[in-house]
Amino acid sequence: MDVDADKLNAFMGKMIGDVGAAMNASLMLLGDKLGLYKALAARGPMTSAELAQATGTAERYVREWLSAQAASGYVDYDAASGRFSMGPEQALALADEDSPVFLGAVGSLVQATFLDEPKITDAFRSGKGVGWNRRSECLFCGTARFFRTGYKHHLVQEWLPALDGVLDKLKQGAKVADVGCGHGVSTRLMAEAFPKSRFWGFDYHDGSIDAARKMAQDAGLSDRVRFDVHSAKSYPANGYDLVCFFDCLHDMGDPVGAMKHVHETMAADGTCMLVEPFANDRLEDNFNPVGRVYYAASTMVCTPASLDQEVGLALGAQAGEARLREVARQGGLMRFRRATETPFNLILEARI
Ligand SMILES: C[S@@+](CC[C@H](N)C(=O)[O-])C[C@H]1O[C@@H](n2cnc3c(N)ncnc32)[C@H](O)[C@@H]1O
Repeated sequence: MDVDADKLNAFMGKMIGDVGAAMNASLMLLGDKLGLYKALAARGPMTSAELAQATGTAERYVREWLSAQAASGYVDYDAASGRFSMGPEQALALADEDSPVFLGAVGSLVQATFLDEPKITDAFRSGKGVGWNRRSECLFCGTARFFRTGYKHHLVQEWLPALDGVLDKLKQGAKVADVGCGHGVSTRLMAEAFPKSRFWGFDYHDGSIDAARKMAQDAGLSDRVRFDVHSAKSYPANGYDLVCFFDCLHDMGDPVGAMKHVHETMAADGTCMLVEPFANDRLEDNFNPVGRVYYAASTMVCTPASLDQEVGLALGAQAGEARLREVARQGGLMRFRRATETPFNLILEARI
């Protein structure tokens, strides 16, 4: 075999970087769980003993964790004082739940892929699906926290205004369905912003609906938000002005059936908003860091979820606009356009 030494070195450099990131994913999870990032960001610079004291954890473990974090570039280390700290950029990504770039929930998502890996390995052999109801608990909370970052900073400010005529309807009082709502993060954000509107969140996973109900109650939104267990093809018709699918249409086995149901349940001049992972239409145009994350999530979560349901279309998380347009068209939603986008999301508007 003719091996190019430079290519091999470059590839090994990349692989060691990836192995380091993979090994550190569990450290990210426990730093989030134990409040280590938050304490360091709020009270640093700190020694390992000071951080352990502040978080009620054992110094020897914290010292090793901090060393790995500093080697990862997730925290800074000052050799002269022996203290660790986080700069504003590191804190925004890892310690501040409300920041526009918070990634602190990623550890829970990675955890879910490993906990559920035996089921997915079996599914590779059998070709069968693995439904959302068979997944580990950390997937549900991890998903809600991971997506909240984008929804909190874009949904009310940019995505809804990008839809034709929807903002005025919401301000005046509209009927909104949030299909595949999970823990209802998007539902709550819209309900907080538009008190005259009424919101119905639907999901086929009862555990998620229970959690969504409780959080809406705690947020004092019960007067305008209701959550019910329903699939995307069974929720009741209500002349909705807006039907939303946040990062879930591609998880469904029968997205065309879901679009047909939108057609039947929405007002004639209503709008369907599809928030989908950003993707280009051609595989080779998604070979970038975002595509890499989404194809992996799609393999471990979205594709098995879809294959578990009837039809099992398995669009995948990188379906892209052209395929989604075709799904909407087959469901009878003929007017279709890209309303806006972020590096992580396509915001698509579909109308009858
Ligand atoms: C990736 S999660 C997104 C959850 C939520 N929309 C969010 O953005 O945080 C996908 C959701 O779709 C739901 N789902 C999948 N297939 C469904 C179906 N056929 N009908 C209703 N909900 C479904 C799952 O239970 C899960 O809550």
